[in-house]
Amino acid sequence: MKMNWLADELASIKDKGLYRRLSTIESAQTPRIIKDGRELILLSSNNYLGLTTHPKVKKAALEAIENYGTGAGGSRLTTGNTELYNSLEERIAKFKGAEDALVFSTGYMANTGTISSLMKNGDLILSDELNHASIIDGCRMSRAEVMVYPHKDVSSIETALRKSKHLGKLIVTDGIFSMDGDIAALQEIVELAKKYDAMVMVDDAHATGVLGKHCGGTSDYFNVNVDINMGTLSKALASMGGYVAGSSELIDYLRNRARPFIYSTALPPPAVAAAKAAIDIIEIENPAKKLWQNIAIYKKGLAGMGFTVKSETQIIPLMTGETGNTIKAASELERLGVFAQGIRPPTVPEGKGRIRTSLMATHTELDIKEALSAISIIKEKYRL
Ligand SMILES: Cc1ncc(COP(=O)(O)O)c(C=O)c1O
Repeated sequence: MKMNWLADELASIKDKGLYRRLSTIESAQTPRIIKDGRELILLSSNNYLGLTTHPKVKKAALEAIENYGTGAGGSRLTTGNTELYNSLEERIAKFKGAEDALVFSTGYMANTGTISSLMKNGDLILSDELNHASIIDGCRMSRAEVMVYPHKDVSSIETALRKSKHLGKLIVTDGIFSMDGDIAALQEIVELAKKYDAMVMVDDAHATGVLGKHCGGTSDYFNVNVDINMGTLSKALASMGGYVAGSSELIDYLRNRARPFIYSTALPPPAVAAAKAAIDIIEIENPAKKLWQNIAIYKKGLAGMGFTVKSETQIIPLMTGETGNTIKAASELERLGVFAQGIRPPTVPEGKGRIRTSLMATHTELDIKEALSAISIIKEKYRL
């Protein structure tokens, strides 16, 4: 009786075409996967550099299991900390050019924990309308006033900062936007923050390992400093977890105040070791070079078919519009041998459904050619 409403709610989600099912892959996150017994080209993975199956990353994870076991056994502040975690944090700080870094169990927790512990009642957060859900949730948890500004609209940030009488001010933005693949206007944001004494936080979930001269992310790309450099270990870094890099004082504060860090078990040792090995590979082997070559080949192919590609990066959405059209186009693409996720509300606004395609450094030219030929088939039929 008490839970009858669940069935009604589920029926309503289904009516709107917004019901979500888990897709199950029967292989590793490689450019060709096995799903429902069929080989498909994977064109939607966040394993951008293909490092989840890199021999050195797998070896590091296996050695960590040998040395430390499979689980951490406690939170970092209790019994869960080992030299492995300290060395990953040192490695991240160096990679990001920061004084220190702190690792959380997920990127989601890094965002919610950081924003909610830094910002409080009486403060102002300025957040891009296309920021990731974990930023939105961190803002909600903070009790600060939140102003959501139109996508990349720096003039509305300035208007809000000029009027603001708040104690603390934070501008927070994705580095690479996760559903559109464009890059934040970070240079302008940093200048405004200086002028109006605000902090800047960048979520480099999709930019770490990919963007910038040293693959250090958006601040590396624009050669600017930000106060709070957040990212995940779960995408190009081939593992699991989130991090924040910044001043020693910031990291010390988060270690003492960020509840998702304090009250959750540390990451399993193999995940920590894998991320550290991935950073080494990024610096030594530069796999991002191949990723950018693949992006250029793919974009050229799409442009040749008449697509207007606005994305600046490895995330390239093919706009499908309404929910019904999105579902049909994505499932036909899968029937044609390409697996890429159809994205519907609430992840994207109503009417802005899309197939979110993304490139990997390990895609071959043949993978990309075959994917493009499948896309050309669905393009006309579903008005892409
Ligand atoms: C922009 C952005 N921030 C944060 C996250 C959360 O990271 P994680 O998957 O490590 O929790 C994601 C992941 O989907 C993301 O796309």
